[in-house]
Amino acid sequence: MINIAILGYGTIGSGVVEVIDTNKDSISARAGDTINVKYVLDLRDFPGSPVEDKIVHDYNIILNDPEIKVVVEVMGGVEPAFTFVRDALVKGKSVATSNKALVAKHGAELLQIARENGSNFLFEASVGGGIPIIRPMYSSFTADEILEITGILNGTTNYMLTKMAGEGLEFDEVLKQAQDHGYAEKDPTADVEGYDACRKIAILTSLMCGRQVDFEDIYTEGITGIEATDFKYAKVINKSIKLFATSKVTDAGIVSMVSPVLIGPEHPLFSVNDVFNGILVKGNVLGDTMFYGSGAGKLPTASAVVADIVDLCKHFDRNIMMSWSKEKLTLADRKSMHHGFFVRVKGNIGDRIEEIGKAFPKAICIEAPGIAGEFAFVTEPMAESEYDSKVSQISDVIKMIRIE
Ligand code: HSE
Repeated sequence: MINIAILGYGTIGSGVVEVIDTNKDSISARAGDTINVKYVLDLRDFPGSPVEDKIVHDYNIILNDPEIKVVVEVMGGVEPAFTFVRDALVKGKSVATSNKALVAKHGAELLQIARENGSNFLFEASVGGGIPIIRPMYSSFTADEILEITGILNGTTNYMLTKMAGEGLEFDEVLKQAQDHGYAEKDPTADVEGYDACRKIAILTSLMCGRQVDFEDIYTEGITGIEATDFKYAKVINKSIKLFATSKVTDAGIVSMVSPVLIGPEHPLFSVNDVFNGILVKGNVLGDTMFYGSGAGKLPTASAVVADIVDLCKHFDRNIMMSWSKEKLTLADRKSMHHGFFVRVKGNIGDRIEEIGKAFPKAICIEAPGIAGEFAFVTEPMAESEYDSKVSQISDVIKMIRIE
């Protein structure tokens, strides 16, 4: 029997217990032994729940129990998760986590501690919910140089944008629906401002380059500025609006960005809707690979956590090597990134065509049905620095959305 402890009995923690129970025979067969949840650490008690007798409130009980081989951290947040995980690894216990805040900030350090103490640290569920993407990054792509990772990495905002596009609903209404489904973070600011996607692309980019990418260095825009009017224009030009998290190798180095983008049906991520996530990875020899699946939610995320538990059980005597050192990567300036731009401006096309044409000679102007007192134009692809200098020549800009 392999005894494990779960830290946190929230949405994911209870999902882990449910998945282990639902598929106990096949999971035990794959792990090589029966997996037994011996403890669940939480501040609360859960009378009447399946873990009623396993609840402990003192982490030291878990830490000092030599029978506990695997610790599952699904509490979220950086502290006390970091201290708990570090102490478990130092004691030679292996750890699986779904906690992207923890992994983005301390991933390299925790991997090193695991290596030095004969333990393992896995974090498949920290990016893409139930989609296998971390494991491919450190094992399947080892023959390639990764040139680009572009993902829809936040289920909450993708659900919201899909609803806004399809049903013409307002931002607040769709946010409430996403929260009711249990997709959103405790504080949904992390979802709608792009911070969640930012941490996820920081983790993927660190695995892409083998060095520490600090999420604070990634240019991040969320979807709080996206309105129903934007979708009316998007319809006219046959595009949809998505929140992209992207890292690309450019001549200037690796550039990373989180921002809403307009994409057309030719883009591989165009059909990634609702709570689903999609991740496009470009390798220099493999070419394009797409990953698609449930990016949030109790059971999909728990599925990835339990897969990590099984992997940990198979590697008690061997370190699972991941190239991610603490050496910091300095990202290139986002201004070197190239794309088209969709720009909404006040006024009408007839009065302003000359002014717009002077700054952006190749711009195409568009109007949306039912929208008065403004119009929009789209530009050809150019560097962000070029756009910044050209747009400063025109007045009354309402907003800009990048086009991929
Ligand atoms: N709030 C996150 C999301 C949960 O919506 O994608 C999964 O990380």
